[in-house]
Amino acid sequence: MLFRKMNKVESGLSILGFGCMRLPVTKDGNIDENQATDMLRYAIDHGVNYVDTAYPYHNGESEPFVGRALQGEYREKVNLATKLPSWLIKSRADMDRYLDEQLKRLQTDHIDFYLVHGLMKPFWENLCPLGITDFLDSAIADGRIKYAGFSFHDELALFKEIVDAYDWTFCQIQYNFMDEQHQAGTEGLRYAADHGLGIVIMEPLRGGMLTRDIPSINNIWKKAPVQRSLPDWALRWVWNHPEVTVVLSGMSSFEQVEQNVGYAKSGLPNSLSQEELSLHIEVEVEYKMRI
Ligand SMILES: NC(=O)c1ccc[n+]([C@@H]2O[C@H](COP(=O)([O-])OP(=O)(O)OC[C@H]3O[C@@H](n4cnc5c(N)ncnc54)[C@H](OP(=O)(O)O)[C@@H]3O)[C@@H](O)[C@H]2O)c1
Repeated sequence: MLFRKMNKVESGLSILGFGCMRLPVTKDGNIDENQATDMLRYAIDHGVNYVDTAYPYHNGESEPFVGRALQGEYREKVNLATKLPSWLIKSRADMDRYLDEQLKRLQTDHIDFYLVHGLMKPFWENLCPLGITDFLDSAIADGRIKYAGFSFHDELALFKEIVDAYDWTFCQIQYNFMDEQHQAGTEGLRYAADHGLGIVIMEPLRGGMLTRDIPSINNIWKKAPVQRSLPDWALRWVWNHPEVTVVLSGMSSFEQVEQNVGYAKSGLPNSLSQEELSLHIEVEVEYKMRI
């Protein structure tokens, strides 16, 4: 496993983070707790030290699952990230109430990386007058959270406004080789990095879409000097950006965890050649013709 650092965080973070939004489920739709626990613990045993969950994932069952799966020595081996459900907040007191509930669900006394979840214009405009920055300051001061960040799903201009509005440690954005111009995009990535924020990436495989076997895409990759799998090419493209700290993947099988942990052994910044980056562009164009 490789590790990278955020400006305002002392310890290194694994370049692969475990996203707990797409855990394996049983026939009745509940989290397959045995399999998911094995996957999470395998990842941690192989160096993953960043685990990302949120209040609504798996109908509210992701946080309690993570709390159980990390019992014993696992909790202290990881940086735990979860998120304030921004769309449910109606008062300043709600912020404390949700955070306290999340600490109970996760069976922990602190959240390492706490994000304001899924910021979009109406949620941000609601949270500001309710005192979101005061809440974050006080939750850091009383030790319930270590680092504050936000995740984002809106336009670039709002992204920059939010970056400027608070002394964030980090942000979480959607980013992959198909989405350089989408939401925060490459310009937002660089803006946040220039302002000292660590960057966590979500949807690096576009929710799995970039791993689907398509003959015309496979033919482009066959021209590469080194042969890699589709998820390897997609993850490697994100890790190639030195601004990126952690890339989250929402893995849904044990095999995917083994593979992605393997790819993370060599996801160095600026490691892709011009020839390989040109193939990413060719693949992007081919995908976009199909959408
Ligand atoms: N803050 C937010 O608003 C927000 C929004 C979205 C996500 N997130 C977080 O970010 C995490 C990552 O996003 P994501 O889950 O969309 O990530 P992703 O890596 O883009 O997509 C995950 C999907 O990719 C496929 N996959 C992963 N590894 C693979 C491999 N080695 N081979 C083949 N297929 C593979 C699986 O699809 P199949 O299941 O179809 O096999 C998996 O469910 C989430 O889990 C969540 O923690 C946050």
